[in-house]
Amino acid sequence: MSALTLWRNAKLATLTSNTPWGWVANGALLTQGARIVWAGDAAALPTAQTPHIQNEVDLGGALLTPGLVDCHTHLVYGGQRAAEFELRLQGASYEEIARAGGGIRSTVAATRAASDADLLASATRRAQSLMAEGVTTVEIKSGYGLSEADEARCLRVARTLGETLPFTVRTTYLGAHAVPPEFAGRTDDYIDAVCAWLPALQRQGLVDAVDAFCENIGFTPAQTRFVFEAARALGLPVKLHAEQLSDQGGAALAAEFGALSCDHLEHLNEKGIRAMKAAGTVAVLLPGAYYFLRDTKLPPIDALRAHGVPMAIATDHNPGTSPGLSLLLMLNMACTLFRLTPEEALRGATVNGARALGLHDRGTLAAGQRADFCVWDLDHPHELAYWFGHNPCRRTIVGGLERTV
Ligand code: NIG
Ligand code: FE
Repeated sequence: MSALTLWRNAKLATLTSNTPWGWVANGALLTQGARIVWAGDAAALPTAQTPHIQNEVDLGGALLTPGLVDCHTHLVYGGQRAAEFELRLQGASYEEIARAGGGIRSTVAATRAASDADLLASATRRAQSLMAEGVTTVEIKSGYGLSEADEARCLRVARTLGETLPFTVRTTYLGAHAVPPEFAGRTDDYIDAVCAWLPALQRQGLVDAVDAFCENIGFTPAQTRFVFEAARALGLPVKLHAEQLSDQGGAALAAEFGALSCDHLEHLNEKGIRAMKAAGTVAVLLPGAYYFLRDTKLPPIDALRAHGVPMAIATDHNPGTSPGLSLLLMLNMACTLFRLTPEEALRGATVNGARALGLHDRGTLAAGQRADFCVWDLDHPHELAYWFGHNPCRRTIVGGLERTV
């Protein structure tokens, strides 16, 4: 057996069971390379393993959680939209700005104008902010290129982030985010193009999943279905920006395609909830966008909970509706705005976030899982959803190795 590292003298929020937090008061972890081989009560450390322990790290009684998973971001883009924020403060709505050609389209123009190096540099800074708070896995969507070349460029930048920074990146193709100017008035033709670009993007290894914006200012359910059929034909999983501004029945449609997740969901109806439950689709809640758009319609949290639909929490980082880069603040907002419990919020940014990406090898502290975990300057995990504007992340271990950001 090859060398083991013992991480001892820690409090563990393993999140492995239905016991509160999967709590272990006097815990320890054994890792081997990039994997956890054992986690539990220090007194139960398997004696067969102890001769193979080569390194020992005393964590001084600190709190350990799984590494955080931010399962919905739009991290790669050019420019910013602070002027649009001011317009909204003066009374313009997000939809009005979008219909007038601003919104997503203005970020598309800025993204197309940016060089690869600029896109990589700005996305790297954003990724570093997320990582500083313990994010070890992040999903990054395209959707600000909206041409074959620019979508590929943005996805490539996202892949490069994953190769150059100590975290995992999953990429999602969101060609169906908005209609670019060269397709104005020809939405169906644009959807055909979005579907036609997909095989080449997949061949270049740029796509882990496919998403769409099903909305009255986005794409209809029928157009979304086309995109999903193209994804299914290539064996790619789907996700959906669903029921954010209106009820389009998008969640039920996505569930029909076995979607990994439906995201936003403020206007989700009962039928959609049942369909998501039956399909095992995760509800990704995005309190940053709810807050920043000054939304008042809450996602149906009680019904999601009652039906046992797993809930995830993410930043939705993007320049239009959620320019924040703190997943911990999202945990706080998930509790204050959406009334999740602190434990639901943490599960949402770990095990359920991973599930929303189709990843089952992370999100808990258990044998067989990736050795991605955070050491916090906190006594109890409920503090993760309590403090805000303060970063208690002391150390982060990714694939068994301590990272410095
Ligand atoms: O997740 N709603 C669609 N997409 C983004 C916003 C994109 C933008 O405004 O640039 C979201 O909220
Ligand atoms: Fe989004």
